Amino acid sequence: MNKIIIFILFLISILQIVRGFTDTDEIVVLYLEAPLFFSKFGTLLANVNAFHSGLGFYSLNSNETYQVDFVAVPGVLESILPNRIENGEIIWNTSGKVQFSDSIDNTGYWSSEKEIMTINNEIFETFLCWAQNYNESLSYYQLFDVLNRNTDELLVKSVVCNDFVWAGFNSLYNLGGKYINDSIIASRDIVTLYTRESIEYVQDGSTNIEVISFYEAMLNISIPKNQTINGLIEELDELFKGNFYLYVNGDYYNVTLDSSPFSFAYSETPLPIGERDLSNITLLESCHFQHSSENDIILNNKNGIGGGWIFIIILLSFTTVYLVGGILINKFKNEKSGSDLIPNKDSWSSLGGLISDGFGFIKSKVTGSTSGGNGYSSI
Ligand SMILES: *[C@@H]1O[C@H](CO)[C@@H](O)[C@H](O)[C@H]1NC(C)=O
Ligand SMILES: *[C@@H]1O[C@H](CO)[C@@H](O)[C@H](O)[C@H]1NC(C)=O
Ligand SMILES: *[C@@H]1O[C@H](CO)[C@@H](O)[C@H](O)[C@H]1NC(C)=O
Ligand SMILES: *[C@@H]1O[C@H](CO)[C@@H](O)[C@H](O)[C@H]1NC(C)=O
Ligand SMILES: *[C@@H]1O[C@H](CO)[C@@H](O)[C@H](O)[C@H]1NC(C)=O
Repeated sequence: MNKIIIFILFLISILQIVRGFTDTDEIVVLYLEAPLFFSKFGTLLANVNAFHSGLGFYSLNSNETYQVDFVAVPGVLESILPNRIENGEIIWNTSGKVQFSDSIDNTGYWSSEKEIMTINNEIFETFLCWAQNYNESLSYYQLFDVLNRNTDELLVKSVVCNDFVWAGFNSLYNLGGKYINDSIIASRDIVTLYTRESIEYVQDGSTNIEVISFYEAMLNISIPKNQTINGLIEELDELFKGNFYLYVNGDYYNVTLDSSPFSFAYSETPLPIGERDLSNITLLESCHFQHSSENDIILNNKNGIGGGWIFIIILLSFTTVYLVGGILINKFKNEKSGSDLIPNKDSWSSLGGLISDGFGFIKSKVTGSTSGGNGYSSI
């Protein structure tokens, strides 16, 4: 009797291991998009085209699905703000990783699932090896590109969910993936920080006095306070006046900010075309990828994000600080007669609504319409 049970358990465990697509499956590749910080803000950030993205796979022959995406660990905010400053040293807790899941999240989290390509199981298996290599070679998260406004030189490349997705398209295409049709287009978020000079490496940045005071001010601003909008704008203005000390994967760079330093765009981005060539992609030399049921998906930050934090990241990444400030001030100057009339209750908690109003405004300015991005525009 016991032997039978053991045998059945053994069978089940075998089935677990071989679970996945079969060699004859035709597999569709999906471009998945979900509103950023869905758990906290619902679909709010979808209104400004701020998305998390990933790749989905489903078989046309069975109901198997699979999902791969790149996430910041423990979250995006931690990639911008240090964990703490202790004994004269800046301490970070940030990384990035590819997460693999045995099925596409079907809880309504993904707001868009767009068919891009079809592949077969061999391509899929090889793709997983590629993704594993990506996971091993890019284990940090970098929210934005740093671009020289004068020369258009890309000084720092972002490492975010969309970079993984586009690298994934590239991998799948070069492995032999075929587009669903000839008119497939896809858009992605791009956040850019502008400078007009080259960036300078900061030796021993985590103990550098200037760098520390920059991040002290950042941490200070990120703590929700009962203050007026004017006070907040002044603080941000002061902080982003001259230099930004960029932290990327253990290193610090001194970035001299352009007068309008941040831009956010959601724009159509080319998919790979032309001759397929395996030398365009890097695979792990020995790949022992197993379909595990590793269920460590962090689709959204379960720890929750304070209002101040989200405000900081929104300001940092999705808008030009100066423009938002200007809009807010104008709004008040126009609607009320002077900043004296800004009510004290306009503390951090009520800023969200204003900011999203500001977003709508910025978006309509940027895109000239309500139907998404139409180019790489700087706000
Ligand atoms: C991805 O990399 C992280 C470390 O950066 C590691 O903990 C994790 O196990 C890797 N995932 C896979 C599936 O290899
Ligand atoms: C191409 O495929 C996309 C995604 O399935 C679809 O939305 C679009 O209408 C298709 N275009 C044509 C010309 O078939
Ligand atoms: C933190 O903010 C408060 C009030 O906004 C200010 O008085 C204080 O100097 C700031 N501290 C640092 C280290 O910037
Ligand atoms: C914020 O400050 C105002 C007065 O300046 C006060 O009436 C209000 O209760 C304060 N709110 C909080 C949450 O401390
Ligand atoms: C960063 O560059 C500015 C000049 O653009 C300079 O004043 C500052 O000292 C530099 N900071 C560090 C830490 O090198």
